[in-house]
Amino acid sequence: MGSLTESYAFVIFGASGDLAKRKIYPTLWLLYRDNSIPKNTVFLGYARSDLTKDQVRERCAPFVKVTREDQESYEDFWRRNHYLRGSYDQRRDFETLNELINQTAGLGANRLFYLAVMPTVFESVTSNLRGCCMAGKGGDGTWTRVVIEKPFGKDSESSAKLSRHLASLFPEEELFRIDHYLGKEMVQNLMQVRFGNRIFGPTWNRDNIASIFISFKEPFGTQGRGGYFDEFGIIRDVMQNHLLQILCLVAMEKPCSTAADDIRDEKVKVLKCMQELTLDNVVLGQYEGDPEGEGEAKDGYLDDPTVPAGSVTPTYALAVAHINNERWDGVPFILRCGKALNERKAEVRIQYRDVAGDVFLGQSKRNELVIRVQPGEAIYCKVMTKTPGMSFGLEETELDLTYGDRYKGAKLPDAYERLILDVFCGSQMHFVRSDELAEAWRIFTPLLHKIEKEKPKPIPYKYGSRGPAEADAKLAENNFKYYGSYKWTKPSSL
Ligand code: BG6
Repeated sequence: MGSLTESYAFVIFGASGDLAKRKIYPTLWLLYRDNSIPKNTVFLGYARSDLTKDQVRERCAPFVKVTREDQESYEDFWRRNHYLRGSYDQRRDFETLNELINQTAGLGANRLFYLAVMPTVFESVTSNLRGCCMAGKGGDGTWTRVVIEKPFGKDSESSAKLSRHLASLFPEEELFRIDHYLGKEMVQNLMQVRFGNRIFGPTWNRDNIASIFISFKEPFGTQGRGGYFDEFGIIRDVMQNHLLQILCLVAMEKPCSTAADDIRDEKVKVLKCMQELTLDNVVLGQYEGDPEGEGEAKDGYLDDPTVPAGSVTPTYALAVAHINNERWDGVPFILRCGKALNERKAEVRIQYRDVAGDVFLGQSKRNELVIRVQPGEAIYCKVMTKTPGMSFGLEETELDLTYGDRYKGAKLPDAYERLILDVFCGSQMHFVRSDELAEAWRIFTPLLHKIEKEKPKPIPYKYGSRGPAEADAKLAENNFKYYGSYKWTKPSSL
């Protein structure tokens, strides 16, 4: 991070918005409280709204946790905060911001800029940053880092345009593209599990694995955010970024080291081996209200007043992807994500092939290695065992590493805590590089354009259900066996 005599300015663009109050300020507070970031950091909120620092603080209040012991530190945190009202496109406002940074953090401060703003202003904000707010004069060791969050464009073309724009202003080392799934404990753990053990490596391939299912389910709908969501749809919102990033970490070869670029090189290679997705390998759904449901569940996607009438934007998607390399040829990677489903769950399910030369007269069921991302972080392996006791029969059970049991009381930081700390430290390991992004869009753009052009009607599914039945058929077609005979039971500690 640098020596303690250095000072830091953390600027939050979009300080009046939702992301800032729900995530960014609360995360900065936690990092400050825990001494994870230097105490000589100054926080500057910037937005168009006419607000005071105290009003920003009030807006954040419902989302921060402050104990009585923390109260003094919390007051300190807000004393180190400032708020500046300004436009996103006027140079003189950015000059004022620069003066405020100089006054509050000092001329030699390192600068972190977090763009929690609408993508329509990404370009003007970054151009003005470059023009007026960079750290130091070059060569004095101070640095500038810019953090941006999706959407990084809507397709290959718009994303390439944004990437070109950013590359004309900042070197890649100064750009931190957040995919917050890369900040999650179990997503990060994919590397340790795969490359820190001897046991999994030899079977991690097409000879042993039948299919890989990467799944994201949410039990709520668009919650009034439908206007925004409708422009993007679930594929852009979750699949093209969060699920694809997980796929890369599951499928990549062992990197030469844990250096950020060695890892990202391997992820890019996976993407380069993937063909563009086609509509015939996809199931699309849209939720309808459940007349017997309660509250929001009564309403379907189209009942959200912010969603355009008759929208065919999918709120559920299942897609089958393939990686054409020696390790994965023929293994379906099934990506599934959906809103308003029966549960909240994100997991990776690696299903092994059937046992060869089975002597148990077909009683064996496939092994599965499950990496549960959330809720209740866990890794468990579904295995067959002898029914305990006199019987010589077989039954399913699991080898279970449930974090809540094994690591009782361990604090698992939130994804944003890890990622913002990484930005301070300058570690890009868990951030998306521009070539990775370009490949991700290459894979999804033809499908997204086809959906937009042909407007296939998504299959309706009921709010709170498992999603369209057609998705189960797709799973079966793609070498994923669902037995329905066994369910992991959540330990009582969770
Ligand atoms: C965001 C999506 O990127 O991820 C949201 O825009 C989604 O639609 C969210 O709800 C899920 O994140 P998490 O961390 O709650 O699983």
